[in-house]
Amino acid sequence: MKHSKVIDLLKSTNTLHEVTAKGWVRTFRNNQFIALNDGSTINNIQCVVDFENTPDETLKRITTGAAICVTGMLSESRGAGQNVEIQVTKITILGDSDPDKFPMQPKKHSLEFLRENAHLRVRTNAFGAIMRVRSTLAFAVHQYFQEKGFFYVNTPVITGADAEGAGEMFQVTSLPLDNLPKNEEGNIDYKKDFFGKHTNLTVSGQLEGETFAMALGQIYTFGPTFRAENSNTSRHLAEFWMIEPEVAFNDLADNMDLAEDFIKYVVKYTVAKCEDDLKFLEGRLLEEEKSKPLADRSEMALLEKLNFVLENNFKRVSYTEAIDILRDSTPNKKKKFQYIINEWGADLQSEHERFLVEKHFKCPVILFDYPAKIKAFYMRLNDNTEPGKETVRAMDILFPGIGEIVGGSQREERYDVLVEKMRALGIDEEELWWYLDTRRFGSAVHSGFGLGFERLVLFVTGMTNIRDVIPFPRTPHNAEF
Ligand code: 4AD
Ligand code: MG
Repeated sequence: MKHSKVIDLLKSTNTLHEVTAKGWVRTFRNNQFIALNDGSTINNIQCVVDFENTPDETLKRITTGAAICVTGMLSESRGAGQNVEIQVTKITILGDSDPDKFPMQPKKHSLEFLRENAHLRVRTNAFGAIMRVRSTLAFAVHQYFQEKGFFYVNTPVITGADAEGAGEMFQVTSLPLDNLPKNEEGNIDYKKDFFGKHTNLTVSGQLEGETFAMALGQIYTFGPTFRAENSNTSRHLAEFWMIEPEVAFNDLADNMDLAEDFIKYVVKYTVAKCEDDLKFLEGRLLEEEKSKPLADRSEMALLEKLNFVLENNFKRVSYTEAIDILRDSTPNKKKKFQYIINEWGADLQSEHERFLVEKHFKCPVILFDYPAKIKAFYMRLNDNTEPGKETVRAMDILFPGIGEIVGGSQREERYDVLVEKMRALGIDEEELWWYLDTRRFGSAVHSGFGLGFERLVLFVTGMTNIRDVIPFPRTPHNAEF
């Protein structure tokens, strides 16, 4: 008999027929009640075992973590919190799980412990919920862009370009590391490497994405990106997924509209689809909050916070206005909040960003028109700025509890200005000849942004460490799985 998914059985209004379910035992109480989960939903189905007619040998093997197959009558349940249960007539143990060795016992494990068991943590309620939410968000990303007529572009993972110019790249080579070929100058001879040149893992698909936007009009990428930045923080991964739309003829204001509309769409879609998982995660967070001092507790529960974002406009503020706000704010040392910033031109630190979104505006903020010096080479220089105070049409979106979730800009479409900027920064024009071709042939205003997918998953799930929202996190000294 074909087995049914637990999510479908639980929704069933039509009982008193035989069903088969397969899944993993979460708990087994009183030699009678199995809580069975098959991953299709946060909810378990209760399977009632006729223990008098089941051999002891089988009962002993119904342990947490074991894979089983049950057949029986789907019946109305008298148990609290469930409509139906299975009155088991046949049970098969598909895979045993030694209760003395299985690490995911039904108790609260620390997140650190779970990270060390990334291959099994998805069998817990919290991680099952997080990973289902992540999958739904990913689907919503595609649905949004596809509905709007964007084309999905797969940009290369191996590339010669450093899109961000930040030099935080993982190198890719096929050369023997213990016997690197050298050229006449004594440097590594990359001409002998697989691609005949120096290559790295991509830090962003933007530059390749721009070439496609200048042909297909509206495109997006959604793929893994890699950064060898040695920041061991709760917001950084060495391998993360980025969504990068790029749109021909969009200016910075259009870009902001697109980013805000996109984020709201995917959050709304996920709130509607993942109600049970989000409610579970909200409950878990509320428990955690109880152990915190009152002053540190968050003002809104998870779903309230998500709905707040859906219902309110993101606040749009220029970098210069933000600096004025930060300058005028009284530092509050008691709360260890050092946000005073005096210098126009300095990059904002995460505590400045958090002050702006969490204390000052109390909503998502789009900061734009940043000083040119602190942003990447490809951003459109604003006209009519004072010498020394040049700004670019950059935008960062800052989210409460997260900080920067989006980085984007209107692109410098003028060939001469772009080349001049590249020269000033020492960026090799020859390397990027193909990128410059977009400005040589039919150049036009265009804009795009990158959204860090894991930061979005952090926001939607209410989790606080980025390691907990990606299946197998890659961070400094951690590539175990
Ligand atoms: O601001 P970033 O560096 O922008 C770019 O890469 C542009 N090329 C995007 C574009 O315009 N097409 O990165 C974009 C976003 C950040 O706002 C952040 O959400 C995320 O990517 N991000 C990271 N997420 C996790 N771990 C890291 N190490 C990240 N670095 C950036
Ligand atoms: Mg950025």
